[in-house]
Amino acid sequence: MEAYDIILKKRNGAVLNPDEIKYMVRGYTEGIIPDYQMAALLMAVYYQGLDMEETAHLTTAMVSSGEVMDLSSIAGKKVDKHSTGGVGDKTTLVLIPLAACQGLKLAKLSGRGLGHTGGTADKLRSIPGFKMDLSRGKFLRIVDSVGAAILTQSEEMVPADKKIYELRDVTAVVDSIPLIASSIMSKKIASGSDGVVLDVKVGSGAFTKDREGALALAESMVDIGARVGMPCRAVLSNMDQPLGYAVGNSLEVEEAISTLRGGGPADLRELCVELGLQMMLLHDPDLDRDRAKRGLEDTLDSGKALEKFREIISAQGGDPKILDDPLGLPKSKYCMEIHSSQRGYVQEMDALKIGQGAMALGAGRKTKDQDIDLTAGIMLKKKVGDSVEIGEPLAVLHSNNPEALEMAGRLLLQAVTISTELRKMPRLVLDTIQ
Ligand code: URA
Repeated sequence: MEAYDIILKKRNGAVLNPDEIKYMVRGYTEGIIPDYQMAALLMAVYYQGLDMEETAHLTTAMVSSGEVMDLSSIAGKKVDKHSTGGVGDKTTLVLIPLAACQGLKLAKLSGRGLGHTGGTADKLRSIPGFKMDLSRGKFLRIVDSVGAAILTQSEEMVPADKKIYELRDVTAVVDSIPLIASSIMSKKIASGSDGVVLDVKVGSGAFTKDREGALALAESMVDIGARVGMPCRAVLSNMDQPLGYAVGNSLEVEEAISTLRGGGPADLRELCVELGLQMMLLHDPDLDRDRAKRGLEDTLDSGKALEKFREIISAQGGDPKILDDPLGLPKSKYCMEIHSSQRGYVQEMDALKIGQGAMALGAGRKTKDQDIDLTAGIMLKKKVGDSVEIGEPLAVLHSNNPEALEMAGRLLLQAVTISTELRKMPRLVLDTIQ
């Protein structure tokens, strides 16, 4: 087999067989196939696409490049969740204890955030003492006994994806549906759970800006799951405005805690309950949905989910006192209120610009090794559909870098559109796919 022939075949629009796909993935991961040949193949895929079968073969070839997590020592149904990334998306923090309270087991691997979307690992780092670099044995024991634990993503899993993603990133081939679907799903399969709920974000702050693209991505990932025997369900959720009010790591932890207390923003709660329901449906597709939803809501309102989060934090060495007194979370030195110069109704809160504003304040990283300020971020005071008066605060900016406040303030003002008409509230959950 020759890499040249495989590239030519895909360039001419033919379907690659599993051996050809394996040959390219293995050869590239082992350093036998050079960057220029893999880049040429990826560009051919970008233009010619991959059918569903080829996409699944690419996924399994990438999974085989590294270690697969063995969760067999954990009793019960192991479910996972993945978000394609959004602004203010702290659902994982709420969902992990919420789903664990329903008897599901969550062995969650989490990475650091890159760009304007935050990563769960960064948010959890703002909890004093919380450790995610657990030994494999300890991680599995906590999942088995407590119901959930969070571990730092391992470098040994799916090395092919890491290498291919880095190449895609510098050769303008990131935004290809089969490549994104296989990249995400290879990591989920290697994480070892029995099923996965995929939260595919749609809108200005998301990876996929339009609904058609998000739907195609969701369908492709659900199809891969079905082909490899790991059932998946996907939810398409709106990311035109941030989720909740808090954007930035410790601010988001505080908002997640208030949601676990039965309060918190309505949109965040709605999405967590929907994703929790989808996780339960993975386990039991015939369950009574209304009853399950009421059960999830009750788990939040009764404080049971908060108590489960307390158990997880304690088991991972964190200080659970922050749940009773979120003032124990780290705070920025500087704050600045941004006021409205108009009266009317908020029409738009552009999630991308708000995410960029939070990054300017120090909350996100541009490169993967950059340090971030866990306290930095934006606390919105208004959301789409709210009325606003002249001089009323739209948001409060938080940072340890006073010079960043002006620039972030400009981005925030650009993100907000106010008009005299009352806007119909955008739907949060746009679709579900199974
Ligand atoms: N996230 C991933 O993990 N992979 C992609 O290709 C795109 C987003």
